[in-house]
Amino acid sequence: MATETASVLLSPIKTCFLLLLGGLMSEAAQEQQGSLYMWIDANQARILIGFEEDILIVSEGKMAPFTTDFRKAQQRMPAIPVNIQSVNFTWQATEQAEYFYEFQTLRSMDVDIMDNPTVNVPLLGSVPRRPSVVQVGFPCLGDQDGVAAFEVTILVMDAGGNIILRTPHNAIFFKTCQREMIGYLSMSPEMIG
Ligand SMILES: *[C@@H]1O[C@H](CO)[C@@H](O)[C@H](O)[C@H]1NC(C)=O
Repeated sequence: MATETASVLLSPIKTCFLLLLGGLMSEAAQEQQGSLYMWIDANQARILIGFEEDILIVSEGKMAPFTTDFRKAQQRMPAIPVNIQSVNFTWQATEQAEYFYEFQTLRSMDVDIMDNPTVNVPLLGSVPRRPSVVQVGFPCLGDQDGVAAFEVTILVMDAGGNIILRTPHNAIFFKTCQREMIGYLSMSPEMIG
């Protein structure tokens, strides 16, 4: 009540200034509630691209610029090589922020080469407060050489139901698989003969 009375007595310019300040302060207060982060950690990045550096995918609740032109990024993205069976993503909801995720699709389009991709977390849940690993696995069947196309789509929402992160529509990834030789090696030459 007291502040209302005060603002009535202020000049329009001062009122404007106070409103602006109030706006900035409420934004700052929102930031203090924390945010969503997702990245590929340096160790995993070294294995994937040879640079030991965190790759930020989502920072302060916003997707990294490289993800906006996803199609272009995808064209430069080679098939996941034979020696990589899984990729670790790390995520965290800082402070009091609540984020809910759902893996909507985990689907192999070449089931004779690779089974459906896997994740090591429940398909539906909330993003942990501590940095936590989501491991996405690419289960090659080992029956034949080839490249499998697959889809992984995830949706992340904040507590207000706003979509923070969503895999682009029609995002398709590729995984190179190899026929497993173990069976052959353990066989005697006569058996292969
Ligand atoms: C991926 O995460 C798992 C589980 O936390 C860990 O055991 C493994 O070493 C990680 N791999 C890489 C390449 O960082």
